Amino acid sequence: MSIEGKNRIITTQRLLEMKEKGHKIAMITAYDYTSAKIVDKAGIDIILVGDSAANVMAGHETTLPITLEQMIYHAQSVVRAVKNPMVVVDMPFGTYQGNSKYAVSSAIKIMKESEADALKVEGGLEVIESVARIISTGIPVMGHLGLTPQSIHKFGSYTVRAKEESEAQKLIEDAKLLEQTGCFALVLEKIPAALGERVSKELKIPVIGIGAGGGVDGQVLVMHDMLGITQDFSPRFLRRYHNLHDEMLAAFKSYVYDVKSGDFPNEKEQY
Ligand code: KIV
Repeated sequence: MSIEGKNRIITTQRLLEMKEKGHKIAMITAYDYTSAKIVDKAGIDIILVGDSAANVMAGHETTLPITLEQMIYHAQSVVRAVKNPMVVVDMPFGTYQGNSKYAVSSAIKIMKESEADALKVEGGLEVIESVARIISTGIPVMGHLGLTPQSIHKFGSYTVRAKEESEAQKLIEDAKLLEQTGCFALVLEKIPAALGERVSKELKIPVIGIGAGGGVDGQVLVMHDMLGITQDFSPRFLRRYHNLHDEMLAAFKSYVYDVKSGDFPNEKEQY
């Protein structure tokens, strides 16, 4: 039991055991209290308060503009809602690259103010000093390799990463380095399935894929994409479980019609 009376059943140790037993890990993004509560009820293992909030919540083209304070706000809303899943928060762009001292103070600020369980950072060797220092404070860190959206201006596009042998080799080395440094799990985004499976086999820590094939230890999707709320994003890896965009649109149209026609509120809907 934590001091909050919450009873998070998914810990870093539990995730390791899940990998050892071959139990797949289900992870999804959430950014607000109401949807995090539903996701918890569904039995999700990990909620990622992703910096994809910059895209789906705030309408930015990239994840770069979101701030530390905005990530903390989203994380607080999610943490308030959940009991069982682990809550992992993305460290936003500019808060850990380049300066490991600043990385530690950013990490501590997120953990103190949100009461989340862990943090996620993008990159390998380039950010390893920051990763090591954050872990040394006792904060669990999840790595993220492959397509790393915070480096989109370096990549130039959102195409599949690590198809070339040299990039695949660097990814494998980075993955091992992150594990040796103490990361408790790793996200691999948009890479060939064979490479995802290879990394998963070579690491002891769980590897969670988004467009990394079925041979990894778990999957993560962005909530708004899998619910079909977003319409203009259709990568091959995305399975849409609903077409909420159309359902929401129909509901909003009905509401507008009912208000304008005087049908809402009716006799029973007033005092
Ligand atoms: O921010 C995010 O949603 C992510 C996932 C794509 C893994 O990092």
